[in-house]
Amino acid sequence: MAHVPVLLTEVLDVLKPRSGGLYVDGTFGAGGYTRAVLGVEGARVIGIDRDPGALPMAAQMKQGFPGRFAFQSGPFSMMEDILALSGAEGVDGVMLDLGVSSMQIDEADRGFSFQKDGPLDMRMSRSGPSAADAVNHLEADELAAIFKVYGEERHARRAARAIEETRAEKPFERTLELAELLARVIGGKPGRIHPATRAFQGLRIFVNDELGELVRALGAAERVLKPAGVLAVVTFHSLEDRIVKTFLRARAGLMGQGSRHAPEVEKGPEPSFALLTRKAVEPSEEEMAANPRARSSRLRAASRTTNPAWPATDDGLPGVPPYSRLMECVS
Ligand SMILES: C[S@@+](CC[C@H](N)C(=O)[O-])C[C@H]1O[C@@H](n2cnc3c(N)ncnc32)[C@H](O)[C@@H]1O
Repeated sequence: MAHVPVLLTEVLDVLKPRSGGLYVDGTFGAGGYTRAVLGVEGARVIGIDRDPGALPMAAQMKQGFPGRFAFQSGPFSMMEDILALSGAEGVDGVMLDLGVSSMQIDEADRGFSFQKDGPLDMRMSRSGPSAADAVNHLEADELAAIFKVYGEERHARRAARAIEETRAEKPFERTLELAELLARVIGGKPGRIHPATRAFQGLRIFVNDELGELVRALGAAERVLKPAGVLAVVTFHSLEDRIVKTFLRARAGLMGQGSRHAPEVEKGPEPSFALLTRKAVEPSEEEMAANPRARSSRLRAASRTTNPAWPATDDGLPGVPPYSRLMECVS
């Protein structure tokens, strides 16, 4: 299925692309956001995606918009280096539309789907350790933490223990082997989400270091945006949304006000962002009806002030093994 861009009108409303402006599309995917920005005559876009599957669409985009579009394969957390390579001094907007594309979910051989059989892979970049490596090599308590924190799975320990027992007989190789085991141990009611949904989400976030990437990209965007440049981030689950909300509220100077219940927090440097969205923007009823993938999407946006960028914040969530643990256990 072709990827339908989510919250596109709302992103354009905050980004306000203009002729002569330079924009980073950190999650190029099928190029839906990029195409819309390039629709403004004279606007330029640098596209980034870590999935090599984005390359053919990027090549088409280059042909369609000569001199106004460039593309670099890689993680969006590297946007500073990517921009330095292109010689750009600063940008007028950064867009991030997180998570996976419809193409990634639909292609069974990418291993993201618990409904179609494929290799237990889930790597957006097609390189580095896979979901099978995580499932076959991490300790059961590490897997349980990933399912619980990243997947918000209530039966995380039960699922991890069952995986540990099963892999002692034979390592997991296929998505359906894992999905069927999870369905047996987690159970679930007809009509509800598939019992493997949450554990698969947790694994995907871990294998792609999605939250670490997000934290680093927010800091990078803060450093590359020009004054009045706009950061627009579309998230698809509460963990991502909380990271974006906390980052933007802190940098807009809205975290240190204290309350009767919460004591005054130490004030940070001068605000580096001004919020453009007080509350997260949700998709319209029409969009949700037309595109079920949009249902959980939320947009938050802010514009850069003239104050310096804040020092980088640390990434990771408490109780979840760091991504480096996965590299270690397969090396
Ligand atoms: C939801 S899709 C974006 C769709 C795009 N906005 C469009 O309209 O076609 C997310 C894309 O971001 C890419 N992606 C996710 N995390 C990334 C990261 N850390 N660095 C680079 N690309 C990433 C995925 O490979 C995927 O192609």
